[in-house]
Amino acid sequence: MSYRVAVIRGDGIGPELVDSALAVLEAVADVEIVEVRGGAAAYLDQGTALAEADLEVILTADATLKGPVGLPDVRLPDGTEAGLLGGILRNGLDLYANVRPITLLPGVRSALRVDDGIDYVIVRENTEGLYASRGKGVGNSQAMADTLLVTRAGSERIARYAFELASTRQGAPEDGVRRVTCVDKANVLRSMFFFRSVFLEVAAEYPGIEAECVYVDAAAQALVMSPRHFDVIVTESMFGDILSDLGGGTIGGVALCPGGNIGASQAYFEPIHGSAPSIAGQDKANPLSQILATAMMLDHLGAPSAGDRIRAAVRQALSNGSIQLNPDGTTRTRAVTEAVIGALT
Ligand code: IPM
Ligand code: MN
Repeated sequence: MSYRVAVIRGDGIGPELVDSALAVLEAVADVEIVEVRGGAAAYLDQGTALAEADLEVILTADATLKGPVGLPDVRLPDGTEAGLLGGILRNGLDLYANVRPITLLPGVRSALRVDDGIDYVIVRENTEGLYASRGKGVGNSQAMADTLLVTRAGSERIARYAFELASTRQGAPEDGVRRVTCVDKANVLRSMFFFRSVFLEVAAEYPGIEAECVYVDAAAQALVMSPRHFDVIVTESMFGDILSDLGGGTIGGVALCPGGNIGASQAYFEPIHGSAPSIAGQDKANPLSQILATAMMLDHLGAPSAGDRIRAAVRQALSNGSIQLNPDGTTRTRAVTEAVIGALT
């Protein structure tokens, strides 16, 4: 089986991460790569972060692999980042589920007093929430402009995605109880109470899976103090953004964290972190987030055994010491790529 994969190399460390991931991908699967430009450098050159023709390529590909995008000085007149693809791809293609696994890999030291067993997935609602206000106006006198959007349809489909994921995923929380945790702020915001109510309605369709609700502040503490309790977490977009970086901080850093942006007919896969321009081009960036995003892409394409081969090679290379990660998350990009390819079985 051959797949047509659109590739956005992105900004900063993006191109070197994507080179690394493509070398691994080509070692496990038959793929046709179609490169498209996207991000801040593309915005500077062409006045748009993603040209129409490139969007067409993405729409006709089987899936898209995207490097991190964004450059510190490339801003829109309203001060927000130009070159971001989030609005264009996540909202434009209705990729409503932002799926972010948080897994402590062997050989990686957690900042917590935990050796293993951190293994949960954050399902971040990707098209509504507070980010629904992106690009909308702020006046000069006040900034009470960013309102939070929660719809029944949007909440229902993300809750269902989370329960379906919990029904099929490998790995279990420490007590072996399959659960979906709704993280919200239903005690303060009515929109969040609505999100929770719809979550509980959907939960009733899945009697075999425990449904629990936790306020976001308490969840932030619990992810640090008892991360092994969690299985699948479902939450609003901005909460998911923050908690996924927090989760990354407990498993060796966001440089180890992949994510998928998944809709009914399109999907793209990327690291959850930014483009780290300060270390770009120095063979220092950790490519594991991009390599693991590639494995998620293969799962999505219906080739989970190829995805498993990549994940097993990453685990093997980390646990036998052939990958050295510096405490600040940097490493040697090319050496890590070779170690992962060398560990493929
Ligand atoms: C992420 C990023 C983006 C987000 C930014 C760059 C818009 O932080 O993918 O987590 O907040 O969604
Ligand atoms: Mn983020």
